[in-house]
Amino acid sequence: MFFKKKPQTTINPQQVALVEHAQQRISQKRGFNTHLLISLFLLFFALVLNFAFGYKADFRPFNSDWSIALAALLGLFLVVHFLKVYVFHSFMGKAWETKQMDFLLDKQAVKVEKLKRNLDKEAALKASAEWEREKQQKNITIIAAVAENNALGKDNKLIWHLSDDLKHFKNLTKGHHVIMGRKTFESMPRALPNRTNIVISRNPSYSAENTHVVKSLEAALAFAQEDDRPFIIGGGEIYRQALTYADCIELTRVHDHFDADTFFPEIDPAVWREVWRENHDKDENHAHAFSFIRYEKIDS
Ligand SMILES: NC(=O)c1ccc[n+]([C@@H]2O[C@H](COP(=O)([O-])OP(=O)(O)OC[C@H]3O[C@@H](n4cnc5c(N)ncnc54)[C@H](OP(=O)(O)O)[C@@H]3O)[C@@H](O)[C@H]2O)c1
Repeated sequence: MFFKKKPQTTINPQQVALVEHAQQRISQKRGFNTHLLISLFLLFFALVLNFAFGYKADFRPFNSDWSIALAALLGLFLVVHFLKVYVFHSFMGKAWETKQMDFLLDKQAVKVEKLKRNLDKEAALKASAEWEREKQQKNITIIAAVAENNALGKDNKLIWHLSDDLKHFKNLTKGHHVIMGRKTFESMPRALPNRTNIVISRNPSYSAENTHVVKSLEAALAFAQEDDRPFIIGGGEIYRQALTYADCIELTRVHDHFDADTFFPEIDPAVWREVWRENHDKDENHAHAFSFIRYEKIDS
């Protein structure tokens, strides 16, 4: 068996006070009406006594001292009672009014505070949404391994082999668009797996397996616009053009000098700010010490 649970009603103390006040008013008015009736009755009684005792034949009711005194007293009581009920006690009193006003002001202050908090929250949400949007727009990333003398490669090949750097590259670019020049693409055995390969070439008939060939860096970026972080992976010619578009550089600085024919452009410290660095010593698997460095473009 299920019983419907009675909805719980909360009694508002203000309503209780008003009901109590209304009851008090009814009994006050009732009291005054009774008073009026008794006074009329007593006046009538005095009139009858006056008349019955026959002090005046021309039937003037209040011509004796005692009846005038009684009428005046009854009238005075009645006036006082009337004033008390209908003039001085017409509402619940100044103290009650002040209390009500304070109560309403407090209630309003709480509401205003709540509204303010909601506005603050909304502003914070807006700011964070804007920040997110900005962040999403600021996502074109150059990724490169560069020697101390800015060497990138020689004879269309990489100069060094650093396994941890390759892992770093794979981890960062996995699932994203990778944008490269035709020469860099041709320096690799095949298109990079688990990434969308975009190759830039001026040759309109150029094509390669598992790649999207485009005719400019701008076309490549447009192709990757849905990506929250497209990577520009080289080589030298493309890096030089990409610096104006990029928001971030994930640089592996190889701490040695090398003979090369392709170089990375100078990183201008007025434009780029280093925000993160991780140093790696050379070891049995790594013939050169290197550092992972993240640069972010300084807002102009
Ligand atoms: N250390 C590293 O991290 C790293 C990374 C990547 C590459 N690399 C090295 O860099 C070297 C290759 O770099 P690279 O500078 O010689 O060549 P690249 O930048 O890879 O490719 C140059 C080619 O891209 C196309 N291209 C460039 N700008 C273009 C534009 N605005 N519009 C249309 N097509 C454009 C042209 O292709 P077409 O000739 O077909 O028109 C051009 O010949 C290699 O040694 C490679 O190993 C090193």
